[in-house]
Amino acid sequence: MQIQYQKPAIQKLHSGLMNKFAGAIPPQRRVKTAVAGISVDDLVTQFGSPLFVYSERTLRRQFRTIRNAFATRYPDVTFGWSYKTNYLKAICAILHQEGAMAELVSKMEYDKAKALGIPGNQIIFNGPHKPFETLEAAVKDSVIINIDHLDEIEDLEAISTRLGQVISVGLRLNLDVGIQPRWSRFGFNLESGQAMDVIRRIQNGGKLRVRGLHSHIGTFITEPAAYGRQVEKMVKFGYEIEAACGWRMEYIDIGGGLPSRSRLKGSYHAAEVLLPHIDEYAEAVCDALWANLKPGLTPKLIVESGRAVVDEAGTLITTVCGTKRLPDGTRAYVVDAGVNLLFTSFWYRFDIALDRHVAGVCEPSVIYGPMCMNIDVVDEAISLPPLSRGTRFVISTVGAYNNTQWLQFIEYRPNVVLVTEAGNVELIRAAEDLSDLERREYLPPFLAPNAGLQSFSSTQGD
Ligand SMILES: Cc1ncc(COP(=O)(O)O)c(C=O)c1O
Repeated sequence: MQIQYQKPAIQKLHSGLMNKFAGAIPPQRRVKTAVAGISVDDLVTQFGSPLFVYSERTLRRQFRTIRNAFATRYPDVTFGWSYKTNYLKAICAILHQEGAMAELVSKMEYDKAKALGIPGNQIIFNGPHKPFETLEAAVKDSVIINIDHLDEIEDLEAISTRLGQVISVGLRLNLDVGIQPRWSRFGFNLESGQAMDVIRRIQNGGKLRVRGLHSHIGTFITEPAAYGRQVEKMVKFGYEIEAACGWRMEYIDIGGGLPSRSRLKGSYHAAEVLLPHIDEYAEAVCDALWANLKPGLTPKLIVESGRAVVDEAGTLITTVCGTKRLPDGTRAYVVDAGVNLLFTSFWYRFDIALDRHVAGVCEPSVIYGPMCMNIDVVDEAISLPPLSRGTRFVISTVGAYNNTQWLQFIEYRPNVVLVTEAGNVELIRAAEDLSDLERREYLPPFLAPNAGLQSFSSTQGD
């Protein structure tokens, strides 16, 4: 074993980042030499670093586990794939193959789903900004539309007049299910009576008809009982609507929010300890349905789970490009992927493994990304042995929200590959180059390099 010389440094003496549950940081970093069965070395040699790697097997397995948890407890369950969580075409296509509808929240996502060939009756349109033209296209396309605010009702009524037809819609609710933070900015509030006022307003308009209810109580919900309370309130409200207007609820859409096996910053426990099993969530939802539905009525249950489906399928490989000691003695590493690619690092602590065994004493270290910004920190307290340039970190779980919220800031976004169930590696998004950045830019002729020089010399000649 080769031992590297390290210049001595004075360090504070402490026994690791213990917490009150005695969960000390591990003395040795985990080593992952392969992702989805493909060697990290081979992946980087072929596709470069940094590199996002998705596992088709993990994605399908995760989807089926969640689907089966609900489908074995309730006869009519449909999944809506939340595009915003990850709208890489290949990821969406896999989930559509598994039977998921497309859950969309913007015109851009709508365009993406249509370009992927998703028919209107397989689309759920949510979100607070639905441009009029897209809304009209969605109505013509028989999309499930869940209304967010009053102005949308006016738009839909105008579309109804234009098309000469009554339009069936869903209503998005926000409600108190006993958890914080309370997501109250979307849809209409249930407890204050606002939602019922809106139902009356819709009925009086005579142009729309409510056929379903939607709500999304938040994300990374660690309390299954919150879903039970959500479903109870939604079902009861459905019956109130039926009594008032004669409209029977065809679907109850509970949104997403199931946690992935990730770790929120500040939580002591590992995901396996902290997070309830998916069956507990399915049980809470389906028990509440059976307890509150009248005999003979089983509206469609729609689940829009995002992060729980895709997070574990995604891994990021990144390479150490610089090592340093900070003035307080802390060891620091600069890697080629930072918050530009890992937007979720602001909230989550990732599982970070090394691509090789490294000898030496572990010490608390910081991992910085390549951004020329102080906030670009991938992990601020990780126990690492002395690493040299070229060592790679294998970071998971990063499949949710990173490939949609990533920033094109001072760096090109890298390759994204999919390891298929057959064990092949497919490029699903190519690394960017300058042409991607400049394709939409225009340089006015008077600012062209030569034009600038001429006017400079002519000024000099005056
Ligand atoms: C309406 C709606 N459905 C589903 C989701 C997916 O949520 P999650 O990734 O927490 O499952 C979101 C996320 O914000 C959402 O707004």
